[in-house]
Amino acid sequence: MPDKTPLLELKDIHKKFPGVYALQGVSFDLYPGEVHALLGENGAGKSTLVKIMSGIYAKDQGEIVINGKPVQITNANEALENGLSVIHQELVLVPHLSIAENLFLGREPQLKNGLVDFQSMSEQTSRFLKEFGLNLNPDAEVASLTIAQQQMVEVVKAISFNARIIAMDEPTSSLTDKEVDSLFSHIRDLAARGIGIIYISHRMSELFEIADRVTVLRDGKYIGTRNVKETTADELITMTVGRPISKYYNRTYNTNQEAILKVKDLSSRKVKNVNFELRKGEILGFSGLVGAGRSETMHAIMGIDKITGGTLEFEGKPVHVKNTEQMIDYGFSMVPEDRKDEGIFPFQTLKFNLTLKTIKEFINFIFVRNSKEDEIADRYMDELSIKAPNLQTVMNSLSGGNQQKVVISSWLATNPKVLILDEPTRGIDVGTKSEIYEIMNELARNGVSIIMISSDMPEILNLSDRVVVMCEGTTTAVLDHSEATQEKILQYAVKI
Ligand SMILES: Nc1ncnc2c1ncn2[C@@H]1O[C@H](COP(=O)(O)OP(=O)(O)OP(=O)(O)O)[C@@H](O)[C@H]1O
Ligand SMILES: [Mg+2]
Repeated sequence: MPDKTPLLELKDIHKKFPGVYALQGVSFDLYPGEVHALLGENGAGKSTLVKIMSGIYAKDQGEIVINGKPVQITNANEALENGLSVIHQELVLVPHLSIAENLFLGREPQLKNGLVDFQSMSEQTSRFLKEFGLNLNPDAEVASLTIAQQQMVEVVKAISFNARIIAMDEPTSSLTDKEVDSLFSHIRDLAARGIGIIYISHRMSELFEIADRVTVLRDGKYIGTRNVKETTADELITMTVGRPISKYYNRTYNTNQEAILKVKDLSSRKVKNVNFELRKGEILGFSGLVGAGRSETMHAIMGIDKITGGTLEFEGKPVHVKNTEQMIDYGFSMVPEDRKDEGIFPFQTLKFNLTLKTIKEFINFIFVRNSKEDEIADRYMDELSIKAPNLQTVMNSLSGGNQQKVVISSWLATNPKVLILDEPTRGIDVGTKSEIYEIMNELARNGVSIIMISSDMPEILNLSDRVVVMCEGTTTAVLDHSEATQEKILQYAVKI
C-alpha cells in the first residue's frame, strides 16, 4: 500500500513513567482500509501508544502525522476532531446510565428549548444497535448488560463518531467465537469503507483472521512489522517473547474418577437445573456462549447469588451455601471474570493485592505486616513474571494483563481445593499464558480440582479433562476430553 498517503503515522514516540520507560522510539503507520495489529507481551506498551494518539497521555518525544500533516493531540476531543476514536482496554462506559446516554455522552441531541432530546437519542441508538445486529434496548442501563454486551456497546460507540481511524484495545477479550465473528464482519465493512483499524489482541488466531499487517513491540521497543500473509504464528511469537515457545499446552490428563463436588439441579435467579460433577484433580472446562449462565452458576456455588433450588455435595457431605466466606473456608477460590470491579484494589500497591486473599486478611493486613507477605509477593512476581518496577507500585499503573496476573496470584496463594477460574487468560500474552497453563496443570496434578470457564476454544479443548456445555442458563452436555470437538460443543451451546 505504499502508493497511498498513510492515514496515520507515529514517528519515534517516547514515553517514560516513573520507573518505566514504556515506549522507546516506537514508529507505526496505518493506511486507509487497513487492519494493522499491535502485538506484544503484557506491559510491552500497546495501550500506552494508543493512549498517546488519543490524547490521554502526553508523549515525551516524537510526532503524530495524520493524512500527511503533523498534528497536536493533547486531549480526547482533539483526537475525535482528527477522526480518531478509541475503544479502551478498560471499559469506560458509565454503568448507571443507559446505552443511549452512554453513546451520546457529552454530545446529546437537543430540542429547541435546549433540553436533551431523549427520543431522538433512543432512536438513533436503536438504529446503531440494529445495524450492529445487537438486540438490546437503547434505554437499558449499562450495568444490566453482560461484559460482552458492554464491550459490543463500546464498539458501537466508537463507530458512531464517524471516525477515520479506530483503535481497538482488546475488543474481543470477553467475546465468544460467535460474537467475535460478528465484530469481524463489522471490521471488514469499516475497512471496505476506507477506515483504518488498529487492532490489539493477544489471540494469535484472530490476527491471522482479521489483520493485514502486524507490528510487534517488546519492552517498549519496536521489534518489527510483518505482512500477515508472509509470516507465521511461530515467527510472531518469537518476535513477541524474544524466544520460541515449544510446549504450549502441556497437559497430563487426569484419570481419577472420584467426584469431590456434586451439583444437582442447582437453580438460582439466573440459572436452572444445573447438573455436573467435579472430580479430584481434574480441569473441568465450562463452555457456552456469553450469557449462557457459566459465571452465574459459579456465583451461586460461591454464595454470591442466592440458591433457590437443588443440592450441592462436597467431599461426600451436603453443603448449604450461605455466603462466600463459608465457601472459602471449605477450600473454594474464585478468580472472577470482571477483575476490574471484583478482583483488585486498584489504588493499593501491588504487594497489597498480591498477598490479599479474603476480607479477613484485609482486616489483618491493616494491623499486622510480616515478612511472609514479601515472600509470597516476591514468589508470584517471579513465577508469573509480573512486570512492575517494585512491590510498592500502585495496581492502577500496571498494564491490563499484569493486573490480571496479580489477581490470579493472590488466589493461588490461598491453596484452594477447588479453584474456579473465570476466563483465566483473558488479555494475557502468549508467554504468560503458557506459564498459567503450566501452573494449572501442576495444581491439578497435585489434586486441586479446577473449574475453568473459558471463551477460548483451543484452551477449552486442550486443557479440559471434561467439558460442561451450558446454554440459556442450564447444562446441556458433559463431554469427555476424547469426544469434545468444537462442532460438538457448539451444537450443545446453541439452542436448537
Ligand atoms: N499511568 C501509568 N503510570 C505508570 N506506569 C504506567 C502507566 N501506564 C502504563 N504504565 C507502564 O507502562 C508499561 C506499558 O504499559 P501498557 O499498558 O502500555 O502495556 P500493554 O502492552 O498495553 O500491556 P497489556 O497487554 O497487559 O495490556 C507498563 O510497564 C506499565 O506498567
Ligand atoms: Mg494494554
